[in-house]
Amino acid sequence: MTTAPWVLVTGGATRLGRELALAFARAGWNVLCHYRRSLAQARQTQADAEALGARCLLVAMDLARPDAATTLLAQCHGLIGAAPRCIVNNASLFDADDAASAASATLQRHLATNTVTPLLLGNALARAVREGAPQGHGWHSVVHVLDQKVHNLNPDYFSYTVSKLALERSVALQAQALAPLVRVCGLSPGLMYQSGPQSAQNFERASRVNLLRTPLAPADVARAAVFLAENTSLNGCTLQADNGQHLVPLARDVMYAIDENPRP
Ligand SMILES: NC(=O)c1ccc[n+]([C@@H]2O[C@H](COP(=O)([O-])OP(=O)(O)OC[C@H]3O[C@@H](n4cnc5c(N)ncnc54)[C@H](OP(=O)(O)O)[C@@H]3O)[C@@H](O)[C@H]2O)c1
Repeated sequence: MTTAPWVLVTGGATRLGRELALAFARAGWNVLCHYRRSLAQARQTQADAEALGARCLLVAMDLARPDAATTLLAQCHGLIGAAPRCIVNNASLFDADDAASAASATLQRHLATNTVTPLLLGNALARAVREGAPQGHGWHSVVHVLDQKVHNLNPDYFSYTVSKLALERSVALQAQALAPLVRVCGLSPGLMYQSGPQSAQNFERASRVNLLRTPLAPADVARAAVFLAENTSLNGCTLQADNGQHLVPLARDVMYAIDENPRP
């Protein structure tokens, strides 16, 4: 009997992270569910993943810490005795700002959580793979969760967008840097959840601003992550799972664009 592979999902307690944890569990993986503050929700994800027949262990970490990547991966190693087969860098900071209000602290916070730690987790995985028992080529991978915004720019959420742009530009670079030990892919979802100050009415309209004019299913995005993790030929590429939202250009973030254009 083969042992199920392990995936580390950062921010796995809630929203897309929870969908990711459950999609991997459904596909026969065991899950290391990372959380920061959402312990109760992480326990729920754990129970639901276990109900699907997976093993699911919880790991806590503030990903803005400079040592977050190495410490988190060491914790995972301590729990499962090896490096996970895949890391899905899903956790992210999404605070509103623009060029006028962006400050050193907000830019650095977004970069630390959304860019630096995800990249360092990939590098730490490659180190662990080099030091561990050899596996087939393409076995280990990192999936960086991006945003359709990086393919469809507007200047809102300035610090967040800079941090995701840097991560998107790093996908191919890191795939080259970590080859042949670890594959690196990107996954760019479209709008899935109501966030920040967005009203339910605004979200209802915004979620249809894509080529299919229908809300994006987070479970479909999560299945795309499983596909990237399991298809050992995919490397240095980014999948856009967004109902075609990246092909609908807007001058502002869709939330503000909706507010500025009341329904005719
Ligand atoms: N929401 C959307 O519609 C949308 C659209 C496009 C792309 N995306 C991308 O998809 C991914 C998931 O989106 P989401 O809306 O589900 O995410 P989210 O709810 O905004 O955040 C997910 C988790 O990130 C964790 N997190 C934030 N800062 C952290 C830190 N310093 N250390 C550790 N954990 C931290 C939080 O964990 P705790 O709660 O445990 O503290 C949070 O639950 C993100 O990468 C996002 O950029 C989302």
